[in-house]
Amino acid sequence: MTRAELPERIETERLVLRVRTVADAEDIFDFASLPEVSYPAGFPPVKTLEDEIYYLEHILPERNQKDNLPAGYGIVVKETDKVIGSVDFPRRHEDDVLEISYTLHPDYWGQGYVPEASRTVIALGFKELGLHKIELTCFGNNVQSQRVAEKFGFTLEARIRDSKDAQGNRCDSLIYGLLKKEWEIKKDG
Ligand SMILES: CC(C)(COP(=O)(O)OP(=O)(O)OC[C@H]1O[C@@H](n2cnc3c(N)ncnc32)[C@H](O)[C@@H]1OP(=O)(O)O)[C@@H](O)C(=O)NCCC(=O)NCCS
Repeated sequence: MTRAELPERIETERLVLRVRTVADAEDIFDFASLPEVSYPAGFPPVKTLEDEIYYLEHILPERNQKDNLPAGYGIVVKETDKVIGSVDFPRRHEDDVLEISYTLHPDYWGQGYVPEASRTVIALGFKELGLHKIELTCFGNNVQSQRVAEKFGFTLEARIRDSKDAQGNRCDSLIYGLLKKEWEIKKDG
């Protein structure tokens, strides 16, 4: 089994990525409770702050431990201490294949924050976790996430037709993949 430990805090050009704690619950609830964030990300809007606290204290760490997944990161704009989004590896498909996922508060969409954060997390996945491949799944109607996948050179490997989205509506499900050797070419290019 590949290692699952990553640094607790990393800096990128504009961002700090740090492991989330229960002290971040209110900030995370601000966007995880929004349907325009949660449904495209594949979960129903978080209903109460208490639910968010329970997620941070129990569901997230227990899942990570069970599946040997790294803790994942909250996204913070430098000079602030507010968590505005997340980048995680929420699923292990194989020993050396993890899935990446991300969310961002809509007030910050379109500024390249998630690509900036994901670039660093993807590099850590290949270099520190020894991954062979990173996968990404998104709904066929999630153009924003598809754009992020394209920016990283992910290849569309499968379109599961007429699946269901997080609200139960018929929707294609897209599966993308990025191999380590493709990432190595892309990052130097
Ligand atoms: C997907 C998401 C994380 C992208 O983060 P981001 O930091 O805004 O990414 P980018 O700045 O690269 O923008 C990506 C695309 O979003 C679209 N976009 C930009 N600003 C937007 C806005 N204000 N409203 C709607 N879409 C917008 C554009 O198509 C953009 O692509 P472009 O750069 O080619 O123009 C974010 O939109 C989000 O949190 N969406 C809801 C949750 C989600 O879908 N998670 C992914 C699950 S697979």
